Amino acid sequence: MLDTLIFASQVVAPNGENRSIRGIEMNELKVIDDGAVGIKDGKIAFVGTREEASQLQAKETIDGTGKILSPGLVDPHTHLVFGGSREHELALKQQGVPYLEILAQGGGIHSTVKATHETSEEALYEKGLFHLNRCLTYGVTTMEAKSGYGLDKETEMKQLRVAKKLNENHPIDLVSTFLGAHAIPEKYKGRPDAFLEEMLSMLKEISKEGLAEFVDIFCETGVFSVEQSRIFLQKAKTAGFGVKIHADEIDPLGGTEMACEIGAISADHLVGASMEGVRMLGESDTIAVLLPGTTFYLGKDHFAPAREMITSGAAVALSTDFNPGSSPTENLQFIMNLAALKLKMSPEEIWNAVTVNAAYAIGRGDVAGSLLEGRNADLVLWDVPNYKYVPYHYGVNHVNKVWKNGKVVA
Ligand code: NIG
Ligand code: FE
Repeated sequence: MLDTLIFASQVVAPNGENRSIRGIEMNELKVIDDGAVGIKDGKIAFVGTREEASQLQAKETIDGTGKILSPGLVDPHTHLVFGGSREHELALKQQGVPYLEILAQGGGIHSTVKATHETSEEALYEKGLFHLNRCLTYGVTTMEAKSGYGLDKETEMKQLRVAKKLNENHPIDLVSTFLGAHAIPEKYKGRPDAFLEEMLSMLKEISKEGLAEFVDIFCETGVFSVEQSRIFLQKAKTAGFGVKIHADEIDPLGGTEMACEIGAISADHLVGASMEGVRMLGESDTIAVLLPGTTFYLGKDHFAPAREMITSGAAVALSTDFNPGSSPTENLQFIMNLAALKLKMSPEEIWNAVTVNAAYAIGRGDVAGSLLEGRNADLVLWDVPNYKYVPYHYGVNHVNKVWKNGKVVA
């Protein structure tokens, strides 16, 4: 006897059995017309057609006729926990002041660092909870959360503890990343290596307290160079962490190539990735996490070369990059629209990128992102007639209902 049986006009059933989906395979998506999904003890217990499901018994039946059902979305790159906001920078942006110049003048990330220092752990928790609830209403059931607005031991730990508590108390599964190397604080101006050593000295405690699984760095002009990033991430790997990188977001420095060389689980942004970087992504296991919302919000015309990456055989994932500066949105559905319009990705590629590949980009491919028996029953029922409709109809929330581990949570 199943706990719940859900019928829908289409079931989007991406299959990431034991790996991410790469290259031209990304254009294949399993879709079951007139389908059904069964839930038992919080896990997916049946995936098939309505006809195949007709023999099954369930305590509860949901009729999603006219709607589609998919796995819960996975958002693999967010800066969820922060103090304050940055609407005051919008006028500067309108005047054409570049993102890196605002940062160099002590604004940008530094402004959020100041606000995060001044916000209590309890208040950061409440604010994080607010944003997390919003993510859930948009259909996200698993996501990553980075620190990086502390830039000192105490505040970085505060952010990581908040993320841990949110994970414990909220239906969304949170995967934590330590991004202490997000900018160089005033105290360490001109001494980036000393600052990176300071951040590395935290890894033992972070690992002991189970506060992060991954370590990330902002490799960018005026922040950390490719060589500094390579050494930093290699030391983090040696300390037992998986590694990620903010690479080639604004200036094309070559972080994409480095990420592939050191075996990063993901390389993120990649707007300025070189042809060599694109080729290497096609041959490595590093997942390209693309963040078109950031490119859009920074007012750029040139987006990450998603088509070239897919042609080269890379696994591409999509994410909001939710943060108060370069991408203030929790709406992963809008990112799906941008991926269609600006990255020229097909609906099939987009669904694979926000489910299976996003899950593998944060080490959760074995539990989330796929509609397979035994996986967590994280599901979304959508008020749309077919799966191609979500990347098409933009600016609204299409979610009807969200299940996490078999329970309705939104
Ligand atoms: O992914 N570029 C670095 N980090 C974030 C932005 C952080 C911020 O501006 O507060 C990003 O774009
Ligand atoms: Fe980011």
